Amino acid sequence: MLENKKIILGVCGGIAAYKAVELLRLLTKAGADVHVIMTRAAQEFLTPLTFQTLSSNPVHTDLFNLIAEREIGHISLADMADLFIIAPATANIIGKIAAGIADDMLTTTVMATKAPVLIAPAMNVNMFTNPIYQENESKLQRMGYLFEAPVSGSLACGWEGQGKLAAPEAIFEGAIAALTKKDLTGRTILITAGPTREEIDPVRFISNHSSGKMGYALARAAHLRGARVLLISGPTALAKPDGVRVIKVASALEMQHEVMTRVTECDVVIKAAAVADYRPVERKNTKIKKNDESVTMELVKNPDILADLGKMIQRPFLVGFAAETDALLENALKKLDAKNLDMLVANDVSQADAGFNVDNNRALLLFRDGSSCECDLMSKDQLAGTILDQVVARLEQG
Ligand code: CTP
Repeated sequence: MLENKKIILGVCGGIAAYKAVELLRLLTKAGADVHVIMTRAAQEFLTPLTFQTLSSNPVHTDLFNLIAEREIGHISLADMADLFIIAPATANIIGKIAAGIADDMLTTTVMATKAPVLIAPAMNVNMFTNPIYQENESKLQRMGYLFEAPVSGSLACGWEGQGKLAAPEAIFEGAIAALTKKDLTGRTILITAGPTREEIDPVRFISNHSSGKMGYALARAAHLRGARVLLISGPTALAKPDGVRVIKVASALEMQHEVMTRVTECDVVIKAAAVADYRPVERKNTKIKKNDESVTMELVKNPDILADLGKMIQRPFLVGFAAETDALLENALKKLDAKNLDMLVANDVSQADAGFNVDNNRALLLFRDGSSCECDLMSKDQLAGTILDQVVARLEQG
């Protein structure tokens, strides 16, 4: 996700400095090339060796290091950066940046960079609420500096309140957001995800193996690209993606109701949900007892939500999914046409390494104009990016 991205991670002195180690691991795991700058105070809490080992790059501590300064170290670092993160950032460093003071390796490099700067403050609650600090932060925000707000909790200094460094995962999300082009700004995208559950009685239901991972990856990616995202989700074990409005449903009929009430506000609908095709004709109000040797259950067809959307006269850009176990291309082309879609993501769900309930997917993208594009095995996050690239390109064509 961060392949080929060069990130400078500035670490200041504070008890939360240890969380910068976890952040560094998240960044490198996502493929980023991370260069760490530590302030003098940061070295009182952690050694440069920790960051050097985990980043595989030398750690910068001294503005006047002769080897690095042969090529003017702080300027070459500032120039190479795609993103600058300061975590934890003390009230002192934020005050210095806001005042234009550049008196060490970190402040001179921040001053010289043209890359976006993401600041994750950590400090005592009274320092955080101090109007001097607040004014410094507001000034930097007005100038385009990004902030990952500290969270509330019990602080290392013994106080309770806001001032704890945001979780490394939240700062990581902030980094991804800062590096993502906002090409879906102003668009509303409705995404359905997960399985549906069709109840038989109070304890049993019919469902399928969908985990919801593909739909949730799409929702997260669309939000990062600036879209307003409505995620209509069947039952899943997944965490709500940041910034996404999640509407929980269980059955196909509930999903249909939520989709149909919201469709007119949407520019794009992506139907990644694995909707159960049939539901029991009758849902028993009490548990069915095992009195009989065999039972027969009558099922009735659920409405095809996607096909109904395809019949609308004024309809959003429609993306369907096709879960197939055989004749992938033939079945997928039939669905694209029968449901009147703009785009279809076809996947072979019989493969063990892709599709239902795993982190990866392999897909064939088919379009209304007859073109197609094959996506080899990749993570669901990567596939979500590729699908949205295609949606953006076609929305721009009008
Ligand atoms: N879909 C839907 N409503 C249904 C069934 C499917 O909106 N009742 C949508 C799915 O969300 C998906 C697409 O239609 O985007 C194709 O779903 P899939 O299960 O692959 O195909 P079906 O249309 O159900 O046909 P079949 O089960 O015969 O393959």
